[in-house]
Amino acid sequence: MIDHPVALDPARIRPDFPALAMQVHGHPLAYLDNAATTQKPNQVLEVVDDYYRHSNANVHRAIYELGTRATEAYEGARQKAADFIGADSRSIIFTRGTTEAINLVAYAWGRKELHPGDEVLLTEIEHHSNLVPWQLAVKDTGATLRHIPLGADQSLDLTNLDDLLSSRTRLVALGHQSNALGNVNPVAQIIRRAREVGALVLLDGAQAAPHFPIDVSALDCDFYALSGHKMLGPTGVGLLYGRRDLLESMDPFMGGGEMISSVTLDSAEWNEVPWKFEAGTPNIAQAIGLGAAVDYLTALGMDRVRQTIDDLSAYAAEVLGALPGVTLYGDAATRSGALSFNMEGVHPHDMAQFLDGVGIAVRAGHHCAQPLMERLGVSATTRASFQIYNTREEIDRLGVAVREAAAFMLGV
Ligand code: ALA
Repeated sequence: MIDHPVALDPARIRPDFPALAMQVHGHPLAYLDNAATTQKPNQVLEVVDDYYRHSNANVHRAIYELGTRATEAYEGARQKAADFIGADSRSIIFTRGTTEAINLVAYAWGRKELHPGDEVLLTEIEHHSNLVPWQLAVKDTGATLRHIPLGADQSLDLTNLDDLLSSRTRLVALGHQSNALGNVNPVAQIIRRAREVGALVLLDGAQAAPHFPIDVSALDCDFYALSGHKMLGPTGVGLLYGRRDLLESMDPFMGGGEMISSVTLDSAEWNEVPWKFEAGTPNIAQAIGLGAAVDYLTALGMDRVRQTIDDLSAYAAEVLGALPGVTLYGDAATRSGALSFNMEGVHPHDMAQFLDGVGIAVRAGHHCAQPLMERLGVSATTRASFQIYNTREEIDRLGVAVREAAAFMLGV
């Protein structure tokens, strides 16, 4: 018998999230846009508030009590984040989010290491934040982009992986989980094959880290990026995990205070990793808030978080999939967290506006994945995405409202 972790009880979770008690347009808020950003628990809000009230000072420089408190809390958050993904804290760089983390690699590693003839392998389903930085990098270096295609079953088609990966491939960069389809990509298989040709691997974990346990050592990836605000933490903070030897060999991304060990008028020496990559006053309060979000998720247990989100996602696919005229997108075998759909004859923006009218928040659009939309042959989808505080009742409301939207707009 397989032992599944027990899903979390939303009745116990929801009181922690003040925003969930809101009424919107006279209806209880059903917040189903968690792939865009999550709501924040009191445990995070209070830590951020407390930092500003009782510990606000700059880090690493102030030789007084508040400075010590701020530095200890900031570096403590780094340790928590490192433990959360199975890394050493010296390999964790605080960034503004996943986008900045990927840009950091594209600039500090890519501009130095990519040359004409080199290749960077991406996929067709990447978020723009894992496409555009590489488009800019190959433009500057003369390297070339290649892409793993989307298959007919809407999972990545690895049939031609042997052709796509070669000794020319310097880096494979892909999402651990797709923001638009919810697919969990076969990263273990891709990383193994990338290793065989000596390529590095960067995983965009923006959607995966809030959904299931991450262990960067077990994954054997070289870089891992994530965003705090998608995992119950504040906006404006995320992180880049990088293999220590790679981080040591990379040049800085941005210059400024704190990233140096010494400066003359004409030159500078760099601080140690990870501070070499944290120029200027960092996002102290946000990083500390991210530490609190990590504490919150860890206390719940990431196995139970995954079970809860998997259950909600499967239920949503059942409810929406049963509605006439609805097309679901994504690989049914691995899809979780985000469910993209379209109702025949109803534009996704009209659908989202109708749903908002009854208090249901979803995202409609291209989800920052325009090449994927083109492959799917649509301009946009409506996307419902789930977190531990969502309920089956909210998904039932979504199902009813989607049917009502079709009745209202199509007269069916
Ligand atoms: N990447 C975020 C989303 O998928 C903004 O909605």
